[in-house]
Amino acid sequence: MRQVLITGHGDPNRLELRDTPEPQPGNQALRIRIRASGINFADILARQGLYPDAPKPPCVVGYEVSGHVDAVGAGVRGDWVGKDVFALTRFGGYADTVVVPESQVFEKPAVLSHEQCAAIPVNYLTAWQLLVVMGALNAGETVLVHNAGGGVGLAAIDIARHLGATIYGTASPGKHAFLKARGLHAAIDYVNQDWTRELARLTDGRGVELILDPLGGSHWKQSFKALRHTGRLGMFGVSTATQSRLPGRLRLIPLGLGMPLFHPLSLMNQNRSVFGVNLGHLWHEVDKIRRWMQALLQGVAEGWVRPHVDKTFPLAQAGEAQAYIEARKNIGKVVLTT
Ligand SMILES: NC(=O)c1ccc[n+]([C@@H]2O[C@H](COP(=O)([O-])OP(=O)(O)OC[C@H]3O[C@@H](n4cnc5c(N)ncnc54)[C@H](OP(=O)(O)O)[C@@H]3O)[C@@H](O)[C@H]2O)c1
Repeated sequence: MRQVLITGHGDPNRLELRDTPEPQPGNQALRIRIRASGINFADILARQGLYPDAPKPPCVVGYEVSGHVDAVGAGVRGDWVGKDVFALTRFGGYADTVVVPESQVFEKPAVLSHEQCAAIPVNYLTAWQLLVVMGALNAGETVLVHNAGGGVGLAAIDIARHLGATIYGTASPGKHAFLKARGLHAAIDYVNQDWTRELARLTDGRGVELILDPLGGSHWKQSFKALRHTGRLGMFGVSTATQSRLPGRLRLIPLGLGMPLFHPLSLMNQNRSVFGVNLGHLWHEVDKIRRWMQALLQGVAEGWVRPHVDKTFPLAQAGEAQAYIEARKNIGKVVLTT
């Protein structure tokens, strides 16, 4: 089998394709022959040495795949063999074969391609947890989705639209027309503009009920200030860590220094709340994840879950694929194909 290895922390050329022996499924596991693997921003942070959850190099990252089952362990129903599936993988997704616990595997809906299915698990589950489970977004409320043109951003637009909310989003200007066509009510250029002013203008100074913020550091302070009373801030990433020019993990220092401190009494008196989401720390809550996925698969059937694949790259070009995202060129998902 073939895998893409992170050989050491650094730029995209630290990703190398290698041949390795075939894995055999353990008792409760299935083996998937992968057709498509989703790329996530966390994979880029892992390559740069900025993602504490990643294994130490040399390692194979990748949180999600779509393909077909060709072997199962003794404790797994034999009728999985031959089925098209998609799955959450706790690393190992940048490959043409992976072994996954049965609890993390879902049947692939026939209406979606393997590439589209590889775009569902991380993006849509994260957006569901942010908007529905912890953000409690209701019809008629307003939400600001930062980085609305990324994979999680597009998933959040689909779900917020389904819930009947008014959706504002920040993104690089070249993505605005596409995002409005997807259902964003107003797009804000956060690269060249002060987004806080623009949001205040759009909301007549009131702010919004929910903000999804994967930028981190001082952005969380600004987002908290932009909440309307009864507002919720969902923090779920530190994308800005990659922007510092400091070497290695020192890049996390400006991020840490810029972070807000929330005082309980101030939260109480402002009628605001803050919460964190990290899907990668929910492996022990697979029952919840499966329930959320059932709701999302219902969304696929009803047509409001619309995974958008921007570009595919062959497995051997994983470095180019990550560089494409780092250059902010992607709208939605970038997928590796075998
Ligand atoms: N906690 C969780 O469970 C969880 C799960 C999934 C993702 N996340 C986090 O959510 C964020 C978005 O993830 P994603 O997979 O949706 O992203 P993605 O699809 O890889 O989106 C990349 C986009 O992010 C924007 N961006 C913002 N800051 C950037 C930077 N410093 N360098 C490069 N691009 C930057 C760019 O678009 P624009 O310039 O147009 O905005 C870029 O095109 C990441 O921080 C990720 O770690 C967290």
